Amino acid sequence: MEPLKARPAPTRRGRGTVLVVDDDPLIRQVLREQLEAAGFFAVAVDSGAAALALCDDLAPHVVVLDLYMPGLDGAQVCRAIKARADRPYVSVIMLSASDVKVDVLAGLDAGADDYLIKPTGAEELRARVSNLATVSEYHRLVTHQRDEARGRIDVLNEQLLRSERLATVGTLTSGILHELNNIAQVLTSALEELGEVPRPADKAFAFDAATSVSQHLRELSKSLLRAVRVDQEPDSCLFRQTVDEVLKMLALTGRTRGVEVRLEGADELGVRCGRVALQQVMLNLVGNAADALGRKTGSRIDLGEVAREGWLEVTVRDNGPGMTPEVLSKIFDPFFTTKPVGQGTGLGLPVVRRVIADWGGTLTVESSPGAGAAFVFTVRT
Ligand SMILES: Nc1ncnc2c1ncn2[C@@H]1O[C@H](COP(=O)(O)OP(=O)(O)OP(=O)(O)O)[C@@H](O)[C@H]1O
Ligand SMILES: [Mg+2]
Repeated sequence: MEPLKARPAPTRRGRGTVLVVDDDPLIRQVLREQLEAAGFFAVAVDSGAAALALCDDLAPHVVVLDLYMPGLDGAQVCRAIKARADRPYVSVIMLSASDVKVDVLAGLDAGADDYLIKPTGAEELRARVSNLATVSEYHRLVTHQRDEARGRIDVLNEQLLRSERLATVGTLTSGILHELNNIAQVLTSALEELGEVPRPADKAFAFDAATSVSQHLRELSKSLLRAVRVDQEPDSCLFRQTVDEVLKMLALTGRTRGVEVRLEGADELGVRCGRVALQQVMLNLVGNAADALGRKTGSRIDLGEVAREGWLEVTVRDNGPGMTPEVLSKIFDPFFTTKPVGQGTGLGLPVVRRVIADWGGTLTVESSPGAGAAFVFTVRT
């Protein structure tokens, strides 16, 4: 915003526009001449009604207003001028032959900025009108700058809202695409399996996986819909059963081929998170570990679970190449990937972290080059 100017801009006509309102023709003439001699543009009218009719078009900086006039008196005219909304500011000097306190008060109470006793000297009139013309000019300047600033704030707010929406849509879409891609792979492999394997038992296995994937797709969309509701009960699912489903999906796509996956730990436990959410987390963490391991002999992924004080602590540990501190510092950045172009989107771990945070859990990771990686997360039981 432009800084407030130290002095108001020069008024439109000389030192400002002044409207003189008095029913006495002689006083009107004298005041007008004195004001013009002092450099003001002065207009004189003989009644309150005429003054009000002229006020909007003339937009005077100052109105010099006789208190006692036939018809509308000075106090009524002053109130009407001050009550005009969204108009340039107008200062009012009440003019009267009376210096009685009641009259002075009547003028000031009506909103007049100043009070002058007739007859006034030319110098006093010039000084008072000049000061109030400056006040009006400042008022108008500040109002103008305020309106401009409001306009700019409205525009900025709208831009902000639009870019926030776009960012949300972008993140959401990327996350959805990433997950759809993961499970679409499973579906594809399942269907291939159905086509290639003649034995009914194997077909049943592939068919189960395809069914599970279609359920996953359905629940993914349901969970997206639920995300906009706030009054829902927390979801829950069976931990081992869900992890088994994920391992089957990964085996079916061949992603864990050549890798020994071990599931250690306690009996079946219910955990307080959605089944799809847990599937998302495990698919990404175990999938990442399998990708890092490649097909080397002795490749292992250990899944460990420890229940403590209302929480289940789950560890996904691999004996792969691990990560350098530099890579480790970036793995939760969206789109960070060390995989070749076309293989990794770099959205897996950001999604995992958001999903775990949504159910109130924590996620930590430990890794160093040559020492594998261990991702540990918590979920309420
Ligand atoms: N277990 C792991 N061992 C070694 N590096 C890992 C491991 N898990 C993740 N990383 C590193 O973190 C990076 C980011 O993982 P993230 O899951 O976010 O994306 P991505 O796997 O590269 O791509 P995608 O979007 O397909 O999941 C990986 O590219 C890899 O460098
Ligand atoms: Mg990944």
